[in-house]
Amino acid sequence: MLVRALYVSRAVGPVTTTVTAAILASARRHNSPAGITGVLCQGSGLYLQVLEGERAAVNRLYASIISDKRHQDVELLSFEEISQRRFGAWSMALVELSASDPMVLLNHPEFDPYAASSSGAMALLDDLLKAGSPIDTPPPQNKA
Ligand SMILES: Cc1cc2nc3c(=O)[nH]c(=O)nc-3n(C[C@H](O)[C@H](O)[C@H](O)COP(=O)(O)O)c2cc1C
Repeated sequence: MLVRALYVSRAVGPVTTTVTAAILASARRHNSPAGITGVLCQGSGLYLQVLEGERAAVNRLYASIISDKRHQDVELLSFEEISQRRFGAWSMALVELSASDPMVLLNHPEFDPYAASSSGAMALLDDLLKAGSPIDTPPPQNKA
């Protein structure tokens, strides 16, 4: 059974390229073998992440992520059964969220992931993926 989880969190300390590289290195090691796909959005001191995969695998990864000391105030925005993946092309795409991004200002002017509906947060992720060039991690093989 496939599920999709969406959460928001606040970074602890500055989000540096070193921190991001370490997180992506973990994602690269674990996500593809675990059948996880998704997108990680960072910026303005926040993380917004979608995890897709088998329910048990998503639960295991989410449990590990919420105890990660590099962020706090982890809040689950949605957890739903899905029939197909939305971000199946990425084992973990990385997109940047900038409050001064014209697309964000135009399409999501009031954007606050802690106040937003999960569909609003998902729409922002979709727009960021379309507008930007996500930094790719190798896609998983043979995943629906
Ligand atoms: C915002 C955020 C997103 C993360 N995303 C992932 C992920 O997609 N996959 C993953 O394996 N670890 C992710 N991690 C790291 C895990 O919390 C954990 O540190 C890691 O899986 C441990 O494995 P390692 O010791 O092999 O690096 C993330 C951490 C943070 C703070």
